[in-house]
Amino acid sequence: AAAVAGSADPRTRTSCGGQPRTVFCGMGICQECRMTIDGRRQLACQTLCRNAMQVERSQ
Ligand code: FES
Repeated sequence: AAAVAGSADPRTRTSCGGQPRTVFCGMGICQECRMTIDGRRQLACQTLCRNAMQVERSQ
């Protein structure tokens, strides 16, 4: 989540209403950081960075 938040495009996903979402609480409560990481939907703020991670924005 920190890497995404510090990037040029900090969006983590798009809400059902089409609004861009990003990291909010940073501690696993708000669910705003749901992303597809290495093929699995996960909370970015609860996931440690590793080399060569595949991180995709979720709908
Ligand atoms: S930023 Fe709130 S759950 Fe990850």
